[in-house]
Amino acid sequence: MIWIKGHRRRIGDLLCMEIGRRIFIGGAVAGAAAIGAGLWWRGFSAPYVAAADHLTAPLPSQPETLDLVRFATLGANGHNTQPWRFSKVADGLAIAHDFSRRTPVVDPDDHHLYASLGCAAESLCIAARARGLSGEVGEAGAEGLIVTLLPAPPEDGALFNAIPESQCTRSAYDGTRLTYEEVSLLEAEATVHGVAAIWREGAEVELILDLVIAGNTRQMDNPAFVAELKEGIRFNGAQAARTGDGLYAAASGNPTMPEPVGRILFDAFFRKESDNDKYADHIRSSAGIFTLVAPSNDPAGWIAAGRAYQRMALRATAMGLRNAFLNQAVEEPAMRAELVSLLDLNEMRPNLVFRVGRAPPMPRSLRRLPEAVMD
Ligand SMILES: Cc1cc2nc3c(=O)[nH]c(=O)nc-3n(C[C@H](O)[C@H](O)[C@H](O)COP(=O)(O)O)c2cc1C
Repeated sequence: MIWIKGHRRRIGDLLCMEIGRRIFIGGAVAGAAAIGAGLWWRGFSAPYVAAADHLTAPLPSQPETLDLVRFATLGANGHNTQPWRFSKVADGLAIAHDFSRRTPVVDPDDHHLYASLGCAAESLCIAARARGLSGEVGEAGAEGLIVTLLPAPPEDGALFNAIPESQCTRSAYDGTRLTYEEVSLLEAEATVHGVAAIWREGAEVELILDLVIAGNTRQMDNPAFVAELKEGIRFNGAQAARTGDGLYAAASGNPTMPEPVGRILFDAFFRKESDNDKYADHIRSSAGIFTLVAPSNDPAGWIAAGRAYQRMALRATAMGLRNAFLNQAVEEPAMRAELVSLLDLNEMRPNLVFRVGRAPPMPRSLRRLPEAVMD
């Protein structure tokens, strides 16, 4: 559902044609203007670099509450709206939903919103345990999910170290397979929270690919979906740094540009055909696809799915692997129903779908400052 590579090619073609014509007509003047524009954009991304550095700075050995909140917010979350509020409670921190940050078109029942809370809770627990705090999730109450922060023996480890590096990598991967042991290690992280992680690779992936493309086509044909997506895009680093949220264009492999230009080009060039081609490319270059299935179809189950995903993403990162979501197959009810029968889920709800493989990192998505999400 993220606009990218196919469009970049088209936009790139257009810009090249444009540049070619100008050089033909204007020569040195246009060349100087292009260099100037390039320099201007390099300078313009400085706020993005500063924000990314600040976000991913190491967790102090004696972290303040805000340091722990920063690590919690590094969790994945739908459309990067960061639908959470943090507050101090007697034994730790509460994580509550922020319904002002819903994405009602893609996520009408708030499934993704609750899964996102699960991702943040899991990152917080892992960070807390690495610093000698209990990091246990209690029952959800009026204040939200409670994560206890009581003294405990420190549990440093690979998952903790992966938190600042973890990301959704929306690019083509290198096409290599995972070993049986790698798949098993990832699956084991989901079972910690009672969630099933179903792996498909090779020819079986094509059947899920068909559902992703069918779901994506429906979404692209829905003007409300496209409007919600466009609203979430941050077209350049300065805009991403200013808001601290949203889908940074470069994180999806798109060129950065001034926001008004980006909005016009999005309307002009964002087409489902090239988006679908991109997804097919991305999926076929991946090692395989995981589908997560939580034990219950309610907010508690959706939170568990988020926690399971976050552990798997961190384990994958620690193992030098990348991942990216393919949730079109579960967001559209018709495709979700087909996935239920394809994977023989016996009416259980498939929660999240993502591919895994190997690739270099992409530019990272930003987060709002901890102060902005703390009550
Ligand atoms: C519940 C949930 C659903 C998501 N759905 C999608 C999706 O369909 N497509 C996608 O590209 N990313 C999806 N994401 C990933 C987020 O967009 C991503 O976590 C966010 O932009 C922050 O980026 P980062 O995880 O790379 O830091 C989802 C994340 C969560 C937790």
